[in-house]
Amino acid sequence: MPKSKKWDVVVVGELFLDEILSGFQALPRLGEEAFARKYAREAGGGAAITACGLAKLGATVAVLGVIGKDGDWLTRRLNEFGVDTTHVEVHPDNSTGLTISVSTREDRAFFSYSGANDGLNSLLRRTEWIELMISARIVHLATSPDGDRDRPLVPMLKRAGVLVSLDVQSNLSWLTSPVNLEILRAVDLFCPNESEAEWVAGETGVHPILRGLRAKGLKRVAVKLGGKGAAVTWDREEYFIDPYPVSPEDTTGAGDCFNAGFLYGLLRGEEVESCLNWGNICGALSTRELGGLRGFPSLGELQAATNKPAKARKASK
Ligand SMILES: Nc1ncnc2c1ncn2[C@@H]1O[C@H](COP(=O)(O)OP(=O)(O)OP(=O)(O)O)[C@@H](O)[C@H]1O
Ligand SMILES: [Mg+2]
Repeated sequence: MPKSKKWDVVVVGELFLDEILSGFQALPRLGEEAFARKYAREAGGGAAITACGLAKLGATVAVLGVIGKDGDWLTRRLNEFGVDTTHVEVHPDNSTGLTISVSTREDRAFFSYSGANDGLNSLLRRTEWIELMISARIVHLATSPDGDRDRPLVPMLKRAGVLVSLDVQSNLSWLTSPVNLEILRAVDLFCPNESEAEWVAGETGVHPILRGLRAKGLKRVAVKLGGKGAAVTWDREEYFIDPYPVSPEDTTGAGDCFNAGFLYGLLRGEEVESCLNWGNICGALSTRELGGLRGFPSLGELQAATNKPAKARKASK
């Protein structure tokens, strides 16, 4: 990967303010009130979390997304992590995307308003943004590119020596639309969770999913398996890793933190086993605290954790 680039990583995608309420005994019915035992405000959305995680580990990172005029808290938080927000667009009318996350011991519910993020897609083709993407070693797309209009984007970035990774989150219609397969085949890394990978592969169960992804022409995919760890298909090989031991408090953003750890490994020129291990550790440790970022490890913590068990293993075929 060329070292002469301005940025290690440019992350493009949705930016949210997350208001996280947890510790409810039960969810209220309409007309009732319930009190949380814990509350946290945090930067959210896949782009914000992956960008902050990468910057915390020491990468130089710029983020591209859209916020509203009310987005000061969010940009300050991104800057605290060292993420450059100079090119984030401020929407004149719409407010910053907001998610209210409500969790009980059993499960979570999210109430979201995408707000200014709705303006993101048309900006993916903006010259200024493309120039910034070309100036990165890695571009991580934490959004769903338009299957027709954005199809040239990935090949163009690759021609400019950029490694492109993609996490579209739980966008069922995007992931099952044949027009988007070309983008999935073109990226250097696709990072779905288990159900997202199932939708693309048309298979269930980890091995059939990985086989199914290869059969569809996807070469390098990291599949996040929540509390079961993670798996990778990498060219024709498969690798698995058990979950890193942790007592989860809140799993919001664990997948985006996994992406940050995995991409940091790629930046450092590590083998796929180490990238998987680092992603798995970052995902797991992020669940220690409320929100996607408070539990995200420092580089020192990540290095210490790599000495513990749960090493990635290659599948014997
Ligand atoms: N309970 C857990 N114990 C250990 N590791 C976990 C746990 N939950 C998540 N992880 C780690 O974090 C990674 C990502 O989690 P998950 O599979 O929930 O991603 P996701 O569904 O994409 O999440 P999100 O989109 O909400 O960020 C997992 O692959 C695993 O490495
Ligand atoms: Mg995810």
